Amino acid sequence: MSFTGGADAYDRFMGRYSSLLAPSFADFGGIARGQLALDVGCGPGALTAELVARLGATSVSAVDPSESFVSAARQRHPGVTVERAAAEELPFGDDTFDVALAQLVVHFMEDPVAGSREMARVTRAGGVVAACVWDHAGGRGPLSVFWDAAREIDPDADDESTFAGAREGHLAQLLGTAGLHEIEEDTLSVSLEHRTFDDWWEPYTLGVGPVGSYVAGLDPDRAAQLRERCREMLPPAPFVLTALAWGARGLVPPASS
Ligand SMILES: C[S@@+](CC[C@H](N)C(=O)[O-])C[C@H]1O[C@@H](n2cnc3c(N)ncnc32)[C@H](O)[C@@H]1O
Repeated sequence: MSFTGGADAYDRFMGRYSSLLAPSFADFGGIARGQLALDVGCGPGALTAELVARLGATSVSAVDPSESFVSAARQRHPGVTVERAAAEELPFGDDTFDVALAQLVVHFMEDPVAGSREMARVTRAGGVVAACVWDHAGGRGPLSVFWDAAREIDPDADDESTFAGAREGHLAQLLGTAGLHEIEEDTLSVSLEHRTFDDWWEPYTLGVGPVGSYVAGLDPDRAAQLRERCREMLPPAPFVLTALAWGARGLVPPASS
């Protein structure tokens, strides 16, 4: 999945949740001062910001295949090495990092096992590879109300629930297949208050990610119908939306194992 929209649209649509997720994901990844960390699929830099705050900019590297996100991340985080690259082909040598993290990325990789294997390759033996993906299959992600409404109107809507890592156990399974050891899985949660319905809805119209493409492909009547169904399904504003992600982490084995 390529993200072609700008960083500001991303911030308003998904960055509002991913910036809240970053501290708990960094904790889950065991980020500690003195480490060198890689942020894979950094987007405009929600997790990058958290890593810079904990480790310092020169200890953080980041990659993303989207040109606009790479320039935004470079601009927002001076001193961080930001490269344009996909997880499946990381532009770093073996054993470069202590920890490699992918926040909300594995489900967009063309080959999630190859991407995770590359994350392990660039991480030293005993280092950590960690990933998280919203619980789309369990209906507990931040987009779940939208996809529930969309499926009511259009049962064929591809609601991201079958994407890699978006169901219990699947991220852990992927990391295991990629050769990581001592894998652990947990849930991570964020809560965000939406002051008005439009505050929640408007970013869905900005064309970001699978949701943005889906809305952009609807005719105006259908889009209005979907918007109204979402309004009915959400609590009256202001409301707090709590969303859950699956997180999995594993250790890189010694070279001989
Ligand atoms: C939902 S965004 C997550 C961005 C950021 N990590 C965050 O938490 O806000 C998904 C990101 O994955 C990137 N992406 C898509 N395919 C990728 C791949 N094969 N390898 C690395 N990143 C990829 C997209 O460009 C996008 O920036």
